[in-house]
Amino acid sequence: MGKLIHTQQCLKRLLIFAPCRQNRVVARMSSSESKLPPLFSLGKLNHVAIAVPDMEKSVKFYEEVLNASCSPIEQQPNHGVSTVFIHVGGDTKVELITPLGENSPIKSFLEKNQSGGLHHICIDVDDIEKAVEQLGEHKVRTLTKTTKIGAHGKPVIFLHPNDCNGVLLELQQK
Ligand code: CO
Repeated sequence: MGKLIHTQQCLKRLLIFAPCRQNRVVARMSSSESKLPPLFSLGKLNHVAIAVPDMEKSVKFYEEVLNASCSPIEQQPNHGVSTVFIHVGGDTKVELITPLGENSPIKSFLEKNQSGGLHHICIDVDDIEKAVEQLGEHKVRTLTKTTKIGAHGKPVIFLHPNDCNGVLLELQQK
């Protein structure tokens, strides 16, 4: 009888400790993983992009009401948008985007947000290819498989909002 109780206690102890031991192993693994040197680092906020249904009207608002200095409207056929950059001091810009062509990637966004809305933010990175590699290892999804040349003539990649706290995040090569 005593032996049986002893065995039961041993089993109970095993059941209690086995998961803990596993957790400790997992915790050790992740802390050693986080000690790996980072492949890239984030730089400054490059721009904040606002999707607008009527570019002319929005430019007028920024120029005449907010006294902002706006770039000319530029078509970006590779991205299915037209853009205007607004200088707001320093290097950071506000980017207005409006659909260009039938298959614009922001068409459905504007259907849901008819008066426009905050669409994405863009942060500089020092090495975008390494960033893509490291994000892949962390299972962060990107909207395209590889980088594309963005509105500033530099490689960019968009990260899936569901993997970035609900925000569409664009990374741009510094
Ligand atoms: Co952008």
